[in-house]
Amino acid sequence: MQITLESKPFAGIESEALVSYVFEESDPVQGRVAEINKLAGGLLGRLAKSGELTGKTLEFTLIHAPAGLKAARLLLVGAGKREQFNSATLRKVAGAALRYLKSRSVKNLAVLVREGDTTAESTQTIAEGTLTADFESDKYKTDKKNDKKIESVAIAGYSDSERAAGEKGLVKGRTIADSQNFARDLVNEPSNKMTPTILAQKAEAMAKAAGLSVEILDEKKIAELKMGALLSVAQGSVEPPRMVVITYNPPSAKPGAPVIGLIGKAVTFDTGGISIKPADGMEKMKYDMAGGATMIGVMRALAALKPNVKVICVVPSTENMPGGHAQKPGDIQTAMSGKTIEVLNTDAEGRLILADGVHYAKQLGATHLIDAATLTGAVVVALAGINVGVFGSDQAFTDKLLASAKVAGEKMWQLPMDEEYREFIKGTVADIQNIGSGKGGGATIGAMFIKEFTGDSPWIHLDIAGTAWNDDAKPWLAKGPTGVALRTLVHLIMSY
Ligand code: BES
Ligand code: ZN
Ligand code: ZN
Repeated sequence: MQITLESKPFAGIESEALVSYVFEESDPVQGRVAEINKLAGGLLGRLAKSGELTGKTLEFTLIHAPAGLKAARLLLVGAGKREQFNSATLRKVAGAALRYLKSRSVKNLAVLVREGDTTAESTQTIAEGTLTADFESDKYKTDKKNDKKIESVAIAGYSDSERAAGEKGLVKGRTIADSQNFARDLVNEPSNKMTPTILAQKAEAMAKAAGLSVEILDEKKIAELKMGALLSVAQGSVEPPRMVVITYNPPSAKPGAPVIGLIGKAVTFDTGGISIKPADGMEKMKYDMAGGATMIGVMRALAALKPNVKVICVVPSTENMPGGHAQKPGDIQTAMSGKTIEVLNTDAEGRLILADGVHYAKQLGATHLIDAATLTGAVVVALAGINVGVFGSDQAFTDKLLASAKVAGEKMWQLPMDEEYREFIKGTVADIQNIGSGKGGGATIGAMFIKEFTGDSPWIHLDIAGTAWNDDAKPWLAKGPTGVALRTLVHLIMSY
């Protein structure tokens, strides 16, 4: 899909559809929409009066052959209350408009940015909204001859003096959205086409193309480094594990400055192991590598956006399988850090591989740690598919991330990490155990376990189990992988 900045006045744009947005207020026909209304002989005013055009969030009003416009259609999308309007709403509005028109076989559209909104942020947001909305998880459908396809999106409404900023935002938005879709492509692959070996190859190819340094640790190297927690999960599978390490190290990074460590869980299939999962819905566990995919996608974006901070990405990857070699409940493992772990449930495997991932990132020099993982069913119970569960050991660092999430339009909610929860994972026969002894608090307990390996480093854990996969399509996003947390992390890192 092509996306460009259009400099023609909107009335003269010969698109299949001109899209703009209206606010929910006593008179939604204002500003540029009032200009359109004038050209259209007062039609919009009449629709508003009759109650058909209200500006309510994601209300669609489609007008064919609008008078006074060269465009074949006019689509007005409700953007809600003006006081609450922000980039998160604009992103959804743009994405939902694209999917609405695509489903009606429209191939090109122009988005008219409203008066006062013609900034770099708006082009970035619209690029992100439309490009991520255009993604479909239909790679393995062979009959695509009736597929609907958007060929181009034009962004309109920018004056000559606003153009340079608009172009800049557009390039940034395109980079971020392409990286998010890159991560979604990885997550969308089934486990027979996305083993740890394949994931590592794809990460390596991306890193090389982007000019990032990359190292792939194979099972031998992983054993040499004594990554006992990762190996314990991998031992049940015929597929060997991998540890992907990608580094972005700009010349502008000063000695002694923070080094960000991004650690992503990449279990390419989670059967649960000997503590096997029920058959119903198990197919979804191909997305248990979404945390790793997100972090690899973040690195792709950073390579192009060039922040001034060093970033080390560590992605431990394995399958979690039952079998003759699989670890068994009660087994005791020694993590790379030297801590011993009693594995009471082999299905709590994400925290095991992250234990070694986090420790290794620190060893490589990361001072600030962020992990992303489809870690617990408990976070789905707590927050459903709406919010990412956020856990942090340093409130200032966590607040920074939550602020970035707001700008990026990704909903995140902080959950507690009180010391009292540590009791639940205190070991009886080893240093710690991998599941809680009591009842409840499952998402926090998973986080508490990872914290054991972070030492004094400021650390944030993102539990994306509920948000990395859309069971149903949203008006602005297809069913399937979401690429959640990527935009937030890119924004956070760019703010250094
Ligand atoms: N990969 C799962 C978590 C998960 C659940 C991801 C639902 C996506 C959707 C994780 O490895 C797991 O199985 N966690 C267990 C932990 C439990 C045994 C303490 C869980 O949440 O049930
Ligand atoms: Zn599991
Ligand atoms: Zn898992």
